[in-house]
Amino acid sequence: MSSEQRRVSQDIESLVHPYTNLDTHLHKGPLIMERGEGVYVFDDQGRRYLEGMSGLWCASLGFSEPRLVEAATRQLSKLPYYQLFNSRSHGPAIDLSEKLLSIAPKSLGKVLYANSGSEANDAAVKLVWFYNNAMGRPEKKKIISRWRAYHGVTVAAASLTGLPANHQDFDLPIDRILHTDCPSYYHEARPGETEAQFTRRIVGNLEALILREGPETVAAFIAEPVNGSGGVIVPPQGYFEQVQALLKKHDILFIVDEVICGFGRTGNMFGSDTFDLEPDIMTVAKALSASYLPISATLVSQKVYDKVVERTRDLGVFAHGVTYSGHPVCAAVALETLKIYEERDIVGHVRAVAPHFQHRLRSLADHPLVGEARGVGLIGALEITRDKASKAPFDAQNNIAAVVQNKAADRGVLVRGIRNAVAISPPLIITKEQIDELFDGIAHGLDEALVVARQAELVQ
Ligand SMILES: Cc1ncc(COP(=O)(O)O)c(C=O)c1O
Repeated sequence: MSSEQRRVSQDIESLVHPYTNLDTHLHKGPLIMERGEGVYVFDDQGRRYLEGMSGLWCASLGFSEPRLVEAATRQLSKLPYYQLFNSRSHGPAIDLSEKLLSIAPKSLGKVLYANSGSEANDAAVKLVWFYNNAMGRPEKKKIISRWRAYHGVTVAAASLTGLPANHQDFDLPIDRILHTDCPSYYHEARPGETEAQFTRRIVGNLEALILREGPETVAAFIAEPVNGSGGVIVPPQGYFEQVQALLKKHDILFIVDEVICGFGRTGNMFGSDTFDLEPDIMTVAKALSASYLPISATLVSQKVYDKVVERTRDLGVFAHGVTYSGHPVCAAVALETLKIYEERDIVGHVRAVAPHFQHRLRSLADHPLVGEARGVGLIGALEITRDKASKAPFDAQNNIAAVVQNKAADRGVLVRGIRNAVAISPPLIITKEQIDELFDGIAHGLDEALVVARQAELVQ
């Protein structure tokens, strides 16, 4: 047995793989990555792949940024761990909070740290509940999310997630979490409905839900500016403007989940800037540290924070936090990441290359398997359909999006099949030439998938 084969069987024997068909994995085994360089990763056979998903929408600066390694090493040798409980603090957490607030939407005034996007969203839910108790409104606790939303996997975050697989057999969602329409014109519009009519209808449905439940019971609404894991759903024109007016009218807090959109992905520092959002609470993770180390944050408005403070005066303590909240090494790496974004004008770079990315993406709309090409900035998706006119998807057993993913990987390009969509979200440092390489690989994947679909007589 070669050492690579031994690695594969050790993996199968010992690891539980997240978001994996665990049964298939037993005989298929893993794809093992060994190193990274710029936007590329290399597997244990020495094969090079352009990481068209930045891992999980997150490795914004690619896979070999020496400054982040140095920032981690510096902090590791100075103070490798300390905590923020009980008024203890340290420089990296203080500096990072100040820096984050200086670039975040003006509505936000304080930062609470955790390790993952899921935890940041759980913290958002708990803050909303705590806030409404402090406001003397114990019944105002329901949180509205959207179908197809992705907010993570911890108990509250998975409940907010609007994807059946995250609920089924996990006994979720928990109570007081509601779901409303997904703002996907492609998937959800009725025949003949214009985009404006569609938007009005689904915002009308949201208001009907609020009124049915009673506005005095609805505490918050949560949304990703662009939904990622639900298939890259870009909201229709006017959607957030109408939603925000509704939330204000009914005194409902707005939680904006910037875990994917935050730090340049949509062509502005935050998705909130791209779509004119005014969050009361905002969650970030992933590109906060360019994903070199795990760190997430829940940013809250001064209004919410002040009420939380007021209540802890009575309770004696704000009894929330995790051992690694604001971990100094993670915070130092995140701070260095934000400095790099600024010094290298990463948002400016995204704006410079995004038109080419979007042009190459949209050119694929003509492919026989593509029902829609959608995206903004450096995020996009191709909707895979077996019939463009009816928009009919392939059924789950004939997962053609996964075939596109696998065939593109054979060409050295990694993208992700998500049900009937192929998602693309490369490192923000990608160049125009690399964008061409990325889309050439995807086009190859589509052509090969078409051959497979035709051979199986799934399409004409
Ligand atoms: C929008 C969004 N929110 C939350 C999460 C959960 O983050 P994590 O996987 O770090 O818990 C994700 C993960 O992909 C996400 O895309």
